[in-house]
Amino acid sequence: MNLILLGAPGAGKGTQAEVICKALNIPAISTGNMLRAAVKAGTEYGLKAKAAMDAGDLVSDDIVIGILKDRIKEPDAQNGFILDGFPRTVPQAEALDAMGVKIDKVVEIHVDDEKIQQRLSGRRVCEVCGNSYHVDYKPTKVEGICDDCGGKTVIRKDDEPATVLDRLKTYHEKTAPLKEYYAKQGKLVTVEGQEEVAETSKLTLAAIEA
Ligand code: AP5
Repeated sequence: MNLILLGAPGAGKGTQAEVICKALNIPAISTGNMLRAAVKAGTEYGLKAKAAMDAGDLVSDDIVIGILKDRIKEPDAQNGFILDGFPRTVPQAEALDAMGVKIDKVVEIHVDDEKIQQRLSGRRVCEVCGNSYHVDYKPTKVEGICDDCGGKTVIRKDDEPATVLDRLKTYHEKTAPLKEYYAKQGKLVTVEGQEEVAETSKLTLAAIEA
């Protein structure tokens, strides 16, 4: 099954992608994680992506489409995948169609902007392994230290309040039109993501299985 998770920054796409990944045994493909890894490694496209990411803008379509195209050819993606954070523009969705990729369902996780600002201000990520935590909803056992690898947890640069506002603006302008794009194809399902993680997971899995 090929799935897309759609939603504003901080709606919980990454959190739900992990749950679906375990439930369906298919890989979660996050273009955000791939871009952050490229920035960390200092690759050519990482260097190009960094400025846009830090400012809360989107990375150019050609870079992201290129990395996604390569990723879905890998062996682990041949029995299905979850796209987390791709497509993010109509041209990216059109590119996916042009690649001949058949999408079964698009799950939009809906969360109000105010709640998103609150969630992202509390998010902490491990600077070594990238694990994600939240000071209230998913705290580390020891403050500031990753439970899994012992690395230091930090605030993501694009989670600073002013950048979150820019990311939300970008989402409403460039990504939200995808709802109509996939609704027209009869693939869009919207779930409420305002409640606790477990509740959203229940709704998300039910939407996928329906
Ligand atoms: P990316 O990493 O994809 O960022 P994003 O979409 O902004 O998503 P986030 O990771 O911020 O949020 P999420 O929805 O995954 O929420 P999470 O589960 O972590 O992209 C980063 C950047 O890369 C982009 O800004 C762009 O520049 C670039 N990029 C990536 N893809 C691109 C593309 N296709 N085209 C162009 N540019 C691209 O949850 C957030 C927090 O809330 C966590 O702390 C979590 O613990 C907590 N939480 C989650 N669910 C709940 C809940 N139900 N209740 C309480 N807390 C919750």
